[in-house]
Amino acid sequence: MSAPGPGVQAVSAGEGISILDEAVDKSKFKTCSQLSFYRRQKQLLPGKSLYRARLDSFTLHNGIAKLQIVHEENKVPLLVEIYGIVGNILRLRINELSPLKPRYEVPDVSVTEPALHRLTVIQEEADVIVLGCDQGDHRVHVAASPFQIDVLSKEDTVLRINSLGLLYFEHLQPPPKESRTQTEEKSDASSISSETGEEDLGFWKEQFGNFIDYKASGPSSVGLDFSLHGYEHVYGLPERTEPLQLQSTSGSDAYRLYNLDVFGYELQNKRGLYGLVPLLLAHKPERTIGVFWLNASETLVELSTKPAFIEAATDMTKKRVVPETDVRWMSEGGIIDVFLLLGPSPFDVFRQYTQLTGTQCLPPLFSLGYHQCRWNYEDEKDVKAVDAGFDDHDIPYDVIWLDIEHTEGKRYFTWDKEKFPSPKKMQESLRSKKRKLVVISDPHIKIDPEYPLYSQAKERGYFVKNRQGEDFVGICWPDSSCYLDFTNPEVRHWYSDQFTFSTYRGSTDILFVWNDMNEPSVFNGPELTMPKDTVHYGGWEHRDLHNLYGFYQQMASAEGIIQRSGGIERPFVLTRSFFAGSQRYGAVWTGDNKAEWGYLKISIPMLLTISIAGISFCGADVGGFTGNPDPELLVRWYQAGAYQPFFRGHAIMDSKRREPWLFGAENTRIIREAIRERYALLPYWYLLFYRAHVSAEPVMRPLWVEFPRQLETFGIEDEYMLGNALLVHPVTAPEVTSIDVLVPGPDEIWYNFHTFERFVGVSTLKVPVTLDSIPVFQRGGTVVPLKTAVGKSTEWMKGISYELRIALDSKGSAAGELYTDDGQSFQYLHEDQFLYRKFTFHKNILSSSCADEKGRYRTECVVERILILGVRKQPASITTIESGRKDRKVTFVYNPRTCVLTVEKLSLGLSADWKIHVM
Ligand code: NOJ
Repeated sequence: MSAPGPGVQAVSAGEGISILDEAVDKSKFKTCSQLSFYRRQKQLLPGKSLYRARLDSFTLHNGIAKLQIVHEENKVPLLVEIYGIVGNILRLRINELSPLKPRYEVPDVSVTEPALHRLTVIQEEADVIVLGCDQGDHRVHVAASPFQIDVLSKEDTVLRINSLGLLYFEHLQPPPKESRTQTEEKSDASSISSETGEEDLGFWKEQFGNFIDYKASGPSSVGLDFSLHGYEHVYGLPERTEPLQLQSTSGSDAYRLYNLDVFGYELQNKRGLYGLVPLLLAHKPERTIGVFWLNASETLVELSTKPAFIEAATDMTKKRVVPETDVRWMSEGGIIDVFLLLGPSPFDVFRQYTQLTGTQCLPPLFSLGYHQCRWNYEDEKDVKAVDAGFDDHDIPYDVIWLDIEHTEGKRYFTWDKEKFPSPKKMQESLRSKKRKLVVISDPHIKIDPEYPLYSQAKERGYFVKNRQGEDFVGICWPDSSCYLDFTNPEVRHWYSDQFTFSTYRGSTDILFVWNDMNEPSVFNGPELTMPKDTVHYGGWEHRDLHNLYGFYQQMASAEGIIQRSGGIERPFVLTRSFFAGSQRYGAVWTGDNKAEWGYLKISIPMLLTISIAGISFCGADVGGFTGNPDPELLVRWYQAGAYQPFFRGHAIMDSKRREPWLFGAENTRIIREAIRERYALLPYWYLLFYRAHVSAEPVMRPLWVEFPRQLETFGIEDEYMLGNALLVHPVTAPEVTSIDVLVPGPDEIWYNFHTFERFVGVSTLKVPVTLDSIPVFQRGGTVVPLKTAVGKSTEWMKGISYELRIALDSKGSAAGELYTDDGQSFQYLHEDQFLYRKFTFHKNILSSSCADEKGRYRTECVVERILILGVRKQPASITTIESGRKDRKVTFVYNPRTCVLTVEKLSLGLSADWKIHVM
């Protein structure tokens, strides 16, 4: 074991655990002003850029535009590359023309090399070149002096780049004359007084508390400004405990994109949390755009918005101006590589982004059910009792989870012999109940030569190194640990291999994975993470790729789960840390929230923000991780969680037990109802995940995405849409008896999902609420597929028939879909083993037809019940028309008070085309 490097504080895992009792310790985390690259960039004020483009260097080769720009003072040439990408995307890359050594370019996040659309020169003048794209609606103006790029759509400016002159590029330089070792010796930590003084330490090192960060390549930060013309509503940049709409940062810290383990995180904070996606969206009624800043080093984003209405100086009247949002991105390293997603619709932007980074993987069906977790389920007896508890109380659930205590002394891939002596037997018992197990696997590896995972990784050189080239040692749950270098493809393969059944003793194919602490969390590291000067595969410093660490662990885990099944089964892997593209590997959750109302409330904008950044499979710990929720909070959290994509109850160790049946019969009944509602809606959830998978549509979406022209929806964050059909407004405060629900109109019709009450042409509804349920509305014009009954788990529900809930719009029409497959394998992809159906209700005829002819999956399951909401008069008769069968009149019930028409006891094949005439 190598000695900890300079600046490593003596903290043991024991002390690490003791931090769990406290709120966030702010002194452990930096403010922006404690970041030297930020301070340096901030010295550059908005104004005329000192960069000049050499238009004589301009070339257009294979449709890619290249030119050099030079800073007037330092004269270092930078290479600017502009690409047109299929699907209305522009890419701008800026790097040094000839850097001293390569600068980090983010690998593995883009799914493939993007397909190019050739740029052409439309106009060339002394000081400007205008480029067009052979597809898409935009033009690019490149101005030479000062260097500025404007993107226009037709004649309207969409955005301007470097118009504030904040292009910033620190070129790599040789180390200062004084040799590194001498510099290091001189700056013995005890002799340094200033906490923030780069002046004291020079640009090649930086101090935070007792930590000194030695920069192997010296200062290398990059930055650029974007003026989003006509935009005042901006979103994105997960993960934050902030409002859905990004706020102006004037007078406050910038949005910080740096993955960190912030135990006890506070509400309303721009500091980085566990995961991030460097994607910002801007929206106005006519157009949505996105700016995807592909950089994995620490990044800050500043925003300043000029709103559409400003107060005139003379009188107090408001005057309308063209709004604008200026965005300044600053990264500690790497290059400038930015994708401009030019929309124009929100769904176009989602498609453009996932065209680059991939779509949400299709989760196995079980993972859309309810998950029961706790730190920890003590032993096999405990697991058995909790599992039985669900059956005894008639509550469906799919997965029980084991946290770190299930292992032999926090050695992942092992079992505590006392508490879990027969893991296979335990899993067989769960399997017999058609349920699954998820176990935790963190990236830190206990230093123990007897532990094969450690000794093998050590021998093969698979750990992240310190500056001296030794294995970096940090403290986490098992005390002294080394950290697997997941950025190395060989390490990822090896890690994936650990999941094979023969290697992972005691595992079976119902065991799935949870990657935690992968920011990575290092209890004795600066800001509780890995020092930036540690070294990864390829010689890259941790600073270059910090934000990718968790992404890579989840990638390796997902591949391991696929591989152990011979490539047949879909994986399920939950990760705490994430980056752009993590959607390809599984689910994410929002980490250590608290059992307080504010955390329930913030879960909505947090999850919406993650969702619109490509990661649909997201959730928050139901009940709140720390603390003890009172029954009302717990009930409300279950009701909210049932309508959020990843639905897991979790609790910290030493919190009171909170299985759903421990809060009295009445609360148990309500929680049961909430979970059953989730299960009844599984066909709709599965359809939404399929749509996310194939068409990049977020499962959970802000209202403005569905109603992009309705200004009043732009700031809504206490309610949201699930797909295009359901509007959900969780109750996030105690003792609420009525709730104001904004239902976008004026031409929409909305139906209360529980009572079927119909609302036309209203904008805000005052909805009475009891503890029994939360407001959910179905939008007129949609069809929602449900199951007619629920079972003990998703697998128990395979054969259960379907219900179609048809909500008519003002024209008496509706349309919707249903997707199904075996729920677990990749056969939907490789063998077309799926069924994708379309339902339309038009002119009193409901038709079922095929939505994708390729689908070959067949099921015995039938549509048994149909509910049509908003039927204005009693029908005379209803006839089903199926091919190969005689037309049949069927019985029905019409309720004139609720205007609901119910047809039951049907047996309409799911894969067959059929019609129902309502006469
Ligand atoms: C931190 C995670 O956020 C939490 O969910 C987990 O229970 C603990 N680590 C222990 O593994």
